[in-house]
Amino acid sequence: MARLRLGVLVSGRGSNLQALIDACSDPDFPAEVALVLSNVAGAPAIERARRAGLPTLVLPHRDYASRAEFDGAVHAALADAGVGLVCLAGFMRLLTPGFVDAWRDRMVNIHPSLLPAFKGLHPQQQALDAGVRVSGCTVHFVRNEMDSGPILVQAVVPVLPDDTAEILADRILGAEHAAYPLAVRLIAEGRVRVEGERAIVSGGDWRAVPLMVPGAGA
Ligand code: GRF
Repeated sequence: MARLRLGVLVSGRGSNLQALIDACSDPDFPAEVALVLSNVAGAPAIERARRAGLPTLVLPHRDYASRAEFDGAVHAALADAGVGLVCLAGFMRLLTPGFVDAWRDRMVNIHPSLLPAFKGLHPQQQALDAGVRVSGCTVHFVRNEMDSGPILVQAVVPVLPDDTAEILADRILGAEHAAYPLAVRLIAEGRVRVEGERAIVSGGDWRAVPLMVPGAGA
């Protein structure tokens, strides 16, 4: 079967991109990275993509007169590359409703909290401030409201008494690197359908699907 072609949008460090690159390097993984696109020239993520020999494109957003024009250029590049699924991986630009609608149920994001808790900036600090005992990450389909949309995969980590936002962010990041490839695999295997605002996953071991607890076995 043809592998699902991923377009990964990045602005920074690119550790989630790396997790996707690593997953795709397994010939049995049902997806491949078709394009890595960044709005930031010199983003470490772009270097990672180049090292992996992947097609890259930098479109500095300041070169465009409006958000709509920038998004139009991104859309055209993704379409040219034959992308079937857009993966936001630390992409620090808000996308216009037209772009989000064009990729409805074909665009996913990863956020370092258990959504719908702690949307927006500094979710790890928000978790510490709230005193929660667990946090984690969420991979979800993208909707126009920030950090919302049907949830595909969540992975849970403990929040420990001495955690700083940085320590918690690192722990969550480890979970992200497992959750993102799993979510992509589920979509690529054709096991996900969206009903209303829920993503329904069929088949497989249920423990691996609705909730991941990395390191907890199974
Ligand atoms: C991750 O924490 C991700 O959840 C959030 O932005 C961060 C990106 O990190 N959306 P990286 O660039 O993938 O290392």
